[in-house]
Amino acid sequence: MEPTVVLGIESSCDETAAAIVKLTADGKRQILSNVILSQLDEHRPYGGVVPEIAARAHVEYMDGVVDHAMNDAAVNFSDLSAVAAIAGPGLIGGVIVGLMTGKGIALTHNKPLIAVNHLEGHALSARLVHEDTMFPYLLLLISGGHCQLVSVEGVGRYARLGTTVDDAIGEAFDKIAKFTGLGYPGGSVVEEAARRGNASRFDLPRPMVGRAGCDFSFSGLKTAARQSFEALDNPGPQDIADLCASFQIAVCEVLEDRCRNAIAAYKTNNNSKIRFVVAGGVAANSVVRSVLDSLCGELNVHLIVPPPVLCTDNAAMIAWAGIERLGAELIDDLGAVPRARWPLDSLYDRS
Ligand code: KG4
Ligand code: ZN
Repeated sequence: MEPTVVLGIESSCDETAAAIVKLTADGKRQILSNVILSQLDEHRPYGGVVPEIAARAHVEYMDGVVDHAMNDAAVNFSDLSAVAAIAGPGLIGGVIVGLMTGKGIALTHNKPLIAVNHLEGHALSARLVHEDTMFPYLLLLISGGHCQLVSVEGVGRYARLGTTVDDAIGEAFDKIAKFTGLGYPGGSVVEEAARRGNASRFDLPRPMVGRAGCDFSFSGLKTAARQSFEALDNPGPQDIADLCASFQIAVCEVLEDRCRNAIAAYKTNNNSKIRFVVAGGVAANSVVRSVLDSLCGELNVHLIVPPPVLCTDNAAMIAWAGIERLGAELIDDLGAVPRARWPLDSLYDRS
């Protein structure tokens, strides 16, 4: 059997990315190239992502990034089994650039098009690097736009167990970075500052902890952190580090409590050892990873977290989702539409 080689294209937020992923006949996965061009310099002066600037930057960079990925992998368009392009959810201007680029390449080279849901890219990313991640598994998806607990039953088959009732988790990290003046991108700078901070200095709330179910809430925690910051007289670097550490530990305790409930609920449906996958940009956070590692150790659950470079946005996960969908014969036509909103569980065809 021929190997499957797929070009992935990602542009749903502020990363212009392209990657080539190969699945060999004996099931081995290989990332042949993984090019990520972050638009940090473009957005930094504004302290966050500006959609119009992101869309223009994607237009400018996309062709070069695709060429770069093809050259790094040493493949030609004729070698591709399919083209997998982002189709949403995300900033619509960027999604349009990625999807149209994918359609252009698929049409020109007569290849199948796979219109990939970005969240499905995150949801399946663990299977790209950890081949033993069999379905079904419990997924914690923690990113800039989402915070969800999901039962992953198979490709395209996602059932949501819990979600945030207000802000996304990464958004909360980004807001803390913004109002403390740490800047952009938020999550990694908050984690960095927190390393030097005292996590017990500020007594911040742990929303939802102790409640039944597995929904999340971060808005009250974010506001409390802001109020603590505003109450400081001329805050210096140590104050900011302490606030970041206090915020990060509060977030981790919320995640731990909610995941504990989800694992308990999941256990009732499955007899084998539970597989628990953590994905999305916030999964790059080392404290989050270690708190969830301890929880899974305590509950005898198999924890699977992709390496940080595959947690934050990248095109290898889009290429891999393309390979998974191709294997399940879930191919799109050139009429596929870009979507700003596209919930993961809406992919589930229960008919
Ligand atoms: O998955 P992702 O790259 O993009 C979305 O799909 O949203 O996630 C981006 C989010 C941002 O909010 C960013 O601040 C957060 O992930 N993030 C982190 C870390 N690295 C990225 N949050 C906490 N700690 C980190 N080290
Ligand atoms: Zn993402």
